[in-house]
Amino acid sequence: MAEFHSIKVADIYKETKDTSVVTFDIPEHLQEDFGFIQGQHLTLKKEINGEDVRRSYSLCSSPVDREWKVAIKQIPGGAFSTYANTELKAGDMLEIMEPSGNFYVKVDAATPKNYIAFAAGSGITPMLSIIKTHLKLEPECTFKLFYLNRTAKSIIFKEEIEQLKNKYFQRFHTFHFLTKEQRDIEFLNGRFTSEKLKTLTDNFIDIDDTAHCFICGPQEMIFLIRDEFVNAGLSKDKIHYELFYSGNSEEENKHIAEVLEHKAEGTKVTIIDGGKEFQFIMDDEYDNLLDGALAAGADLPFACKGGVCSTCKCKIIEGSVEMKVNYALAEEEVAKNLILSCQAVPTSEEVVVDFDV
Ligand code: FES
Repeated sequence: MAEFHSIKVADIYKETKDTSVVTFDIPEHLQEDFGFIQGQHLTLKKEINGEDVRRSYSLCSSPVDREWKVAIKQIPGGAFSTYANTELKAGDMLEIMEPSGNFYVKVDAATPKNYIAFAAGSGITPMLSIIKTHLKLEPECTFKLFYLNRTAKSIIFKEEIEQLKNKYFQRFHTFHFLTKEQRDIEFLNGRFTSEKLKTLTDNFIDIDDTAHCFICGPQEMIFLIRDEFVNAGLSKDKIHYELFYSGNSEEENKHIAEVLEHKAEGTKVTIIDGGKEFQFIMDDEYDNLLDGALAAGADLPFACKGGVCSTCKCKIIEGSVEMKVNYALAEEEVAKNLILSCQAVPTSEEVVVDFDV
């Protein structure tokens, strides 16, 4: 059931010029429901200029700290991020959905593990939660963080990363890459490239001894790192990523056009949500189940509408759909008939989907 709770902002401060860190005051009676796993996100909702605006932000705090904190970077023209960075203040109320997301691996203190992480800009947010949690709960694990930013000043959580380095100096190593500032070590200037990744796997990363690799940033960076590491011998199931949605590639647009050709007209849709059923006929104006259902008056969970956050996840019980894009569900989830309703184009006369999953 798409349930938002009214939550008070306990604290807000500027971490960098364009990024605010917001701490929420989760009331005692909701703390169990708001329990989270490192790497998960919160969906925030606010009416801005008469519009229902929702965005997902990763928690940067660790579950072991019993703190709920997100970092919100102001995006030019971004309605929610601009509001959060210019108007939001301590004491304000926001509508927040319980934590969700699957950008994590289970903590396992029994087996020593070496982790690597690649982040760009605000991609550090889930990574910080993941790093803090594993370092704290797995006393023998190591973490190497490769973090890309424009300038030293734009590094989000620079201080906190330094403190973690001091605290876990034998187990946590960081490498800062900058795109708009030249430094003496040429290798650390500019974006990640195939050559740089090869240098890393030749000198700093032992692929055979890497338990998991986490990547968070723009699509191009994620796929480059993923492909290079797969070529270097890291198995795909050890590579976990969370994407910043920044539009679809040409190839994806081609795939979307093909999917839309299979769309059935006037599909009868049954939605199960909160144990109740809701039925409607898909209006031709909409190509996906989520938009069709919202237009028909359903109240369903969603945030990015770009196939990234998985907030709109549901299970297909009857009928068939094809997804335009899917950056959020793992292959095992798709095999279990889970779909992203914001990307699900109905391809049969009738479709039944269950949101109580
Ligand atoms: S709303 Fe984010 S994946 Fe559908």
